[in-house]
Amino acid sequence: MSKITIAIDGFSSTGKSTVAKQIAKHLGYVYVDSGAMYRAVTYYAMQNGLIGDNDFNKEALIYQLPKINISFKFNESLGFAEVYLNDENIEKQIRTLEVSNFVSQVATVSEVREQLVKQQQKMGQDKGVVMDGRDIGTVVFPNAELKIFMTASAETRAKRRYNELIERDDDVAYKDVLKNVQNRDYIDSNREDSPLIKADDAIEIDNSDLSLDEQFEKVLQLVRMTL
Ligand code: C5P
Repeated sequence: MSKITIAIDGFSSTGKSTVAKQIAKHLGYVYVDSGAMYRAVTYYAMQNGLIGDNDFNKEALIYQLPKINISFKFNESLGFAEVYLNDENIEKQIRTLEVSNFVSQVATVSEVREQLVKQQQKMGQDKGVVMDGRDIGTVVFPNAELKIFMTASAETRAKRRYNELIERDDDVAYKDVLKNVQNRDYIDSNREDSPLIKADDAIEIDNSDLSLDEQFEKVLQLVRMTL
């Protein structure tokens, strides 16, 4: 059976990566978390003092982009690929609320996007890939055979993200997580370069009231209809 490209876009914390991982595993496809790549660049910027509460040295970040090498390595025991920044595993470090608070600003920088989009296109050049993000169906793979756009209410999404962070022992308040989700939605949807929009040919799924199993079945059904 010939392989296809599956693009899953949508707002923050809609559970895109959960279903993308399940589908990739089921089909034996590669899963790419494009958000992790923007988070990795953000983590680099934070570590190198290029972004903070009141300042963002965009020019310095652009200048240092060639030094930022992002890669993924499959972790057998976890069953998915973890993200590395210049050979350091930063999977845990990039999931903090602090990184979430800066990532959307970093993702507005066209030079950052250009570098990451090129790498994403290379990773998907042989098809057989499930990639999730904000611009996968519109910019990275406009010819993807299957495009899905995930939505859910901001409160539902913030609750899910809050639970995830609490499970990891992160000391966060629900109201800060909700604020972060709403801020990111706003910046991601209103930026000039590659804003988050539903591709004309994407199928929208609102998963506010769907269980993980129901969501998986729904997406799998779409995959079967596309193959
Ligand atoms: O998917 P995740 O929530 O980890 O993405 C983090 C951030 O990275 C998003 O809020 C967005 O600002 C940025 N992003 C993007 N384009 C993508 C994936 C993520 O701009 N394809």
